[in-house]
Amino acid sequence: MLKNWIKILYLTLLGLTLVACGQSSSQEDTSLRDVTEDGKLVVATETGFAPFVFKTLVDSKDTVVGSDVEMVKKIAEDLGVELDISEMSFDNVLSTVQSGKADIGISGISVTEERKKVFDFSIPYYTATNKLIIKKTDSQKLIVLDAFSGLSVAAQKGSIQESVVKEQLAEAHLISLTHTGEMINQLKNGQVAAVVLEEPIAKGYVEKNPDLMIADIELDSSASDAYAIALPKGSTALKAEIDKVLQKLIDSGQIEQMIQEAYDLSIKD
Ligand code: ARG
Repeated sequence: MLKNWIKILYLTLLGLTLVACGQSSSQEDTSLRDVTEDGKLVVATETGFAPFVFKTLVDSKDTVVGSDVEMVKKIAEDLGVELDISEMSFDNVLSTVQSGKADIGISGISVTEERKKVFDFSIPYYTATNKLIIKKTDSQKLIVLDAFSGLSVAAQKGSIQESVVKEQLAEAHLISLTHTGEMINQLKNGQVAAVVLEEPIAKGYVEKNPDLMIADIELDSSASDAYAIALPKGSTALKAEIDKVLQKLIDSGQIEQMIQEAYDLSIKD
């Protein structure tokens, strides 16, 4: 009798061990191997975010450029694979990476506690602060956060700037729009009173639109860490490779330089 019990216990334990092994092998990290075996790095991005990602004519061809693009070029080079850039709206960049349909997402993506639950992130490569863009004609009126009470303020759909409006401009109406260009147009024609964007993007738009300015109002940017590359959860091996390349670009000051060059290019035309 006792022997039988021991046998059953033994078989049960054996079974459990086999199940556990089976699970761990199905969750094996193939992130790096997938990229090298396919010979390409599939990158999800949104291209309305100069100087990080934008489009410009290169040899009379519409081309995706920007410092984020330069960075992923270096990563693909390091891995010895082709770069496959897949353009989509910003909210789709996040969902595409989350579902693993792209190997990585790069698009000035900010690391937040919430996003850390569903993505792996590379080391950060840029720290951004939030700014409000307003019309110059409102410069006397919109000087404190309270002045936005009852007004419409635009932020990009899926971006952390939506929470900035909801939390820091709680009395304003949030207008979520897919494209930053659309946000700027709505500001210029008076449909919204302000637009929330991070500083380098805001500066680029203000530079190109003399009727706009950055409001002299502080916004809190502490809810997000910094920009990083997003990867599907569990992409440990690919992340390690990416971090190595990023660390080199950071240490050598190349990232700063890439951002400056991309900014200059973005305000040229
Ligand atoms: N940094 C912000 C975020 O992660 C905005 C990023 C928007 N990027 C873009 N390519 N439109 O939510």
